[in-house]
Amino acid sequence: MLIGEAQQEIAKLRRLIEYHNHRYHLLDNPEISDSEYDHLFRRLVELEAEFPELDTPDSPSHRVGFEVASGFSSRRHLQPMLSLDNAFGEGELRAFDERVRKGLGFNEPIEYFVELKFDGASLNLLYTDGWLAAATTRGDGTTGEEVTSNAKVIQGIPLKLEGQVGSQIEVRGEVIMEKEVFEDLNRTKLQKGEQPFANPRNAASGGLRQLDSKLTFERRLKFFAYSIGFSSEPFADSQSLALERLGGLGFLIRGESGVAKGVEEAVAIVNKIQELRNSLPFGIDGAVVKVNNFALQQELGSTGHGPRWAIAVKFPSEQAFTTLKDVIVQVGRTGTITPVADLEPVLVGGVTVTRATLHNYQDLARKGVKIGDVVIVQRAGDVIPEIVGPILDKRPESAREVEVPTLCPVCGTGLVQKQEEVAIRCPNRHCPAQITERLRHFVGRKQMDIEGLGEKLIDRLFDLGYLSDLSSIYRLSSCEADLKQLDKLGELSVTNLLEAIEASKSNPLPRFLSALGIPGLGEKAAQDLARAFGSLERLRHATYEELVNVPNIGPITASDIAEWFEEPENRQLIDDLLASGVDPKQESGNLGSQFAGQTVVFTGKLEVLTREAAEELVVRQGGKAAGSVSKNTSLVVAGPGAGSKLEKATQLGIPVMNEEEFLQMIQDIEP
Ligand code: IVH
Repeated sequence: MLIGEAQQEIAKLRRLIEYHNHRYHLLDNPEISDSEYDHLFRRLVELEAEFPELDTPDSPSHRVGFEVASGFSSRRHLQPMLSLDNAFGEGELRAFDERVRKGLGFNEPIEYFVELKFDGASLNLLYTDGWLAAATTRGDGTTGEEVTSNAKVIQGIPLKLEGQVGSQIEVRGEVIMEKEVFEDLNRTKLQKGEQPFANPRNAASGGLRQLDSKLTFERRLKFFAYSIGFSSEPFADSQSLALERLGGLGFLIRGESGVAKGVEEAVAIVNKIQELRNSLPFGIDGAVVKVNNFALQQELGSTGHGPRWAIAVKFPSEQAFTTLKDVIVQVGRTGTITPVADLEPVLVGGVTVTRATLHNYQDLARKGVKIGDVVIVQRAGDVIPEIVGPILDKRPESAREVEVPTLCPVCGTGLVQKQEEVAIRCPNRHCPAQITERLRHFVGRKQMDIEGLGEKLIDRLFDLGYLSDLSSIYRLSSCEADLKQLDKLGELSVTNLLEAIEASKSNPLPRFLSALGIPGLGEKAAQDLARAFGSLERLRHATYEELVNVPNIGPITASDIAEWFEEPENRQLIDDLLASGVDPKQESGNLGSQFAGQTVVFTGKLEVLTREAAEELVVRQGGKAAGSVSKNTSLVVAGPGAGSKLEKATQLGIPVMNEEEFLQMIQDIEP
């Protein structure tokens, strides 16, 4: 690269970074994602390193934070608040370890302390004689905004320390907003037609800098301590001990952090933290690896930007901004219509995303998203990406409202909406979209697990008329020769496919039940039902009362299931599937049939068995355990404290025994 070109690019990058710094730090309203920002920043640092003559001290690459906003008085930190250098991936963490060991002249493994990198706003708390004297934002690293009265309404900031410390001590940490609070506040903002917060960090940092502490309080922020700044007396010898002591003084400390002996263990803890990321109640954007021993930290010292003894291992950002190109109308297997965002491809959480769910039209209206908007996309772990809301400042004039469909986009049938539901549905169960979706669900890995029958092949075989309803899958074997002639399918894959279909016939009952696509009947409910009824034959004829008696099956699911099995078309489907050789078996380890066809109710306190174990015993003997007594109950086992159920059983003349008698009976059959 020529120096002239570099000069131009550097100038452009600096302008851009200054602009985004302003939006991020002062307006709390960023326009680009963290990873896009990091990218710009890295490129600038890279160019300045390559052309040192172009590097100037006023470059944003040398600044830690941002200048103080008006409205607050500024205050100097007793010790500067540095930033952290970033490492992307394991390789860069290992390179950091190399640098540390070289810097210290160590060959042996270094002891590190690995902690969460809280995604919030840093805050410096000065305690004088144990009392909170000042709270200051990081600002430019030397001087920040004094927000003491706001700090006093943040959870986790003790006004008085619960222990003895030196006359002056600075405690540093991060102010965060929990995910749940963020969603709650955004819901309210959207309802009011206001710009939602882009992410919890902006909401936290904005909350910290409110001129009215009542507004800070309403943001329900929390403070997690992570280090000590100035201390008039020695505080601890290491990071791990410092955190332990901070916990004792009344600060919130997280338990996910840990000491690592050497870089290998540090990598392992970082990976563990990354796995935990989605289950934490607040956002983290990485892990921080610190040399544990303070004397060694001192020896390594700092650069202008950050300490040489610590590094932030960054995780992929879970939010990004992109353009909503269109909203596609998707028809699900039960006819539910879902608006799906068609997006300009964007990297979120390490994956390129082009589609995101908008849940339903009510939600879409609530969020006020228009086609053409720049939107905030969020993706956490394996969860389907979703749209948080629009960036109103960036709405183009050409942005247009999303139309709510009235006709099914696939079959043209008029859409319906049940009064108590938010979902719009296509009522035509013969709608090709519903059929192919039902087929996809049926063959899914957690259902009948028919390998080789992928989405595209289902569509193709449906279009060609080989597939129609679920039972048509089991008629494919009669068209083997035709299938083998199909372009790109090949003999071998047809043979494999037909074998997979054949094998699926003997799948266990729970898989078969959840494959049917009965509303409300997921994997767990399918297992509970299979266990309770033991056979398809018994389940398909179960009444609502019997269904609702099954543990974990609620009234809505029970009535959905009963209704589904009453529908003549569904009855026919089951008959067809059975006729084609599908033979789902309950494999819960049934040992016998002592309770076959019987329903047993346990009531009162059991002294030897747990309620679950007792019910399991009944099921293993082919029976069913129920929660309430009816004329269909075969036996009641009553313990001390049995009340109305026992009374009812006596009234109805149902046999009753105590736990001891029940155990005796079981022992006779299951010694
Ligand atoms: S230590 C000199 N530890 O990340 C060391 N920082 O990107 C300074 N942060 O300004 C920071 N969690 O606001 C440290 N466990 C943690 C942290 C943490 C979040 C923030 C902090 C810092 C920024 C640097």
